[in-house]
Amino acid sequence: VTPPTLFEPIEINGVRLRNRLILPPMCQYSCEARDGVPHGWQFQHLAARAAGGFGMVVAEATAVTPEGRISPWDTGLWNDEQAQAWAPICDEIAELGAVPAIQLGHAGAKASTVPMHPGVPAGQPILEGPDSWETLSPSGVPTNSMEIRTHAMQVDEIRETVQAFADAAERADRAGFGAVQLHAAHGYLIHQFLSPLTNTRTDEYGGDYEGRTRFLKEIVAAVREVWPADKILGIRISGSDWREDGWSIEETVRLAQELQGQVHWFDLSSAGIGDTYEGPKGPGYQVPLATAVKEGTEGIVVSAVGSLTGAQEVADVVTAGRADAVCVGRAALANPNWPTAAALELDVPEEQVPMARQYFRAKW
Ligand code: FNR
Repeated sequence: VTPPTLFEPIEINGVRLRNRLILPPMCQYSCEARDGVPHGWQFQHLAARAAGGFGMVVAEATAVTPEGRISPWDTGLWNDEQAQAWAPICDEIAELGAVPAIQLGHAGAKASTVPMHPGVPAGQPILEGPDSWETLSPSGVPTNSMEIRTHAMQVDEIRETVQAFADAAERADRAGFGAVQLHAAHGYLIHQFLSPLTNTRTDEYGGDYEGRTRFLKEIVAAVREVWPADKILGIRISGSDWREDGWSIEETVRLAQELQGQVHWFDLSSAGIGDTYEGPKGPGYQVPLATAVKEGTEGIVVSAVGSLTGAQEVADVVTAGRADAVCVGRAALANPNWPTAAALELDVPEEQVPMARQYFRAKW
């Protein structure tokens, strides 16, 4: 079989993406009213990249509860006003030929921090005032050495949070999203449960692999109850903590195997726990994690992400069979038309160039 190419369409659970390029979720920290409602900024940010040719456009980490926000400026989907505000954004993304997707998350112990904007110390907790709140976590264990306010979740808080993911997914469906991605990466709440470095619980939600994965599996089951069977359900996961005694790629592959059939798409990032990044660096540094999941599973679409910026380099990941799809993040902040530009550079067949028809003169 000839391997697919980057600009060939791909089906995920029967939903067609026009190519294998995915805009990954990127927090914009732009809800100035601190109400989690997306506005013009999110609209133009996502629509521009749909027009730029991505096959799927994933909206930023969107909180399922107010206290699950990384910062007070995050988007949310814990109420209907937010769902209504997402609807025209979904319509526009779909109109422009991309599948509208949203990442649903809860920051856990990494909530209530200052937004990552220029001149601001990244990830710094807000310890007092109206923008500060006590955060939830599996064990009251911080993800790094910064001072925070957090408490270990009671079982009823776990149940409420599982339900909040399902409620947010239901709203995402009503808003018109075609895909939901659960945020199990980067040291946020689900990852805090997965990793033995932050999960020291002794009840059924901690301990061995079974216990640490229970929270995520319950979320998947609850979301499946409400999320339409013909839409895409995905997970972005940190494939490794890159730390001794941390969450590992072996556990990630096992989890993907257990969830195949329920989850259609795995997006392989890494790290998020600890003060420093201890993993490999350089172009495509996380691709081997995606390849491991792809090789260990059947029927799951696997995407790679991280420092993949050149057209040929990104195309090679797919043609070499190292992943089924690729996320291009920061390079697409610099150039929203990254996919179109890459298609022209690679000289793909005319019908695969995902250029907006309004821009067609750019080719000559
Ligand atoms: C991110 N990233 C990120 N990841 C995620 O899972 N949810 C999120 O909301 C965000 N937010 C975010 C904001 C900004 C401004 C950046 C630059 C990054 C990580 C992002 O999705 C991606 O995985 C990394 O940027 C690595 O890919 P690139 O940028 O090297 O292509």
